[in-house]
Amino acid sequence: MSDPRRNVELKALDPDPARSLAVCRELGAEDRGVLRQRDTYFRARAGRLKLREQEPGGATLIQYDRPDAAAARESRYRLTRVDDPDDLRASLDAALGTLVVVDKERRLLLWEGVRIHLDTVAGLGSFVELEGVAPPESDLAPEREKVARLQRELGIEEVLTDSYSDRLLGADALVAAAREAMDRAHAPYSRFHVGAALRAEDGSIHAGANVENSAYPQGQCAEASAIGVLVAAGRTRVLEAAVIADSPEVCVPCGGCRQRLREFMPLDGTIHLCSAAGERRSTTLEALLPLSFGPEFLPA
Ligand code: THU
Repeated sequence: MSDPRRNVELKALDPDPARSLAVCRELGAEDRGVLRQRDTYFRARAGRLKLREQEPGGATLIQYDRPDAAAARESRYRLTRVDDPDDLRASLDAALGTLVVVDKERRLLLWEGVRIHLDTVAGLGSFVELEGVAPPESDLAPEREKVARLQRELGIEEVLTDSYSDRLLGADALVAAAREAMDRAHAPYSRFHVGAALRAEDGSIHAGANVENSAYPQGQCAEASAIGVLVAAGRTRVLEAAVIADSPEVCVPCGGCRQRLREFMPLDGTIHLCSAAGERRSTTLEALLPLSFGPEFLPA
């Protein structure tokens, strides 16, 4: 059996994947094309265990462990090639249970031993991931240096501490809260039931529904209701939002609510647009409200 492999890795939201790709090309990174990956995470007793099925490339069982830290961090992992992913998935699901499935499209680039991943994750949005793969004898300093250089070139300021699987589980909880609020909407006039849920900086979730009135202009959107709940709970910073309506299409916030969210949310904050049937489209506030006005424009 071999020792676990190590790398230095970093992940961030990517508000502009086309720009990131251009930066990588300019640095001379080798473009290895697009991979489709489906990762099934099982309930492991320690660390993480996932079955990766990749097109092109086949299947691999990956066991790994890593601390949640807001900086480039060391990860230790083991890879085992799998010939029969369907059987292994069924066995592990029966024995351990499946936690979550992460589907993504990954554009893979290589730069001086660093793997650059431009990822589009179903239900989450776009991310950039850097992995400086370390040879066994490395003290990790060269890998840290290269990852730091790429971080600067790509203009990455805020590093994410959670994994795609954590995010997806978190997003599921947010959407569930929005759906619960939607089910309680007071919308007897439009019969368009909307729910919104906001995740505050401390992880707490605040949800609200649209509340209509027989004097129509007095009606209130779900986002406005959720913001009221957030503020009443003593929170004013939102990192992630979900909006859902009981309609066949995913629900998009109206123009007024985009501006309402702008008051409390950073432009790169994620907004999940959801349909009652389970469809989810994930975008950012900036994409919904370009060239926007916000509190920072006003004198202090
Ligand atoms: N609605 C929301 O709650 N949020 C939006 O962003 C779009 C519209 C509600 C308002 C009204 O009660 C119903 O949907 C129809 O416009």
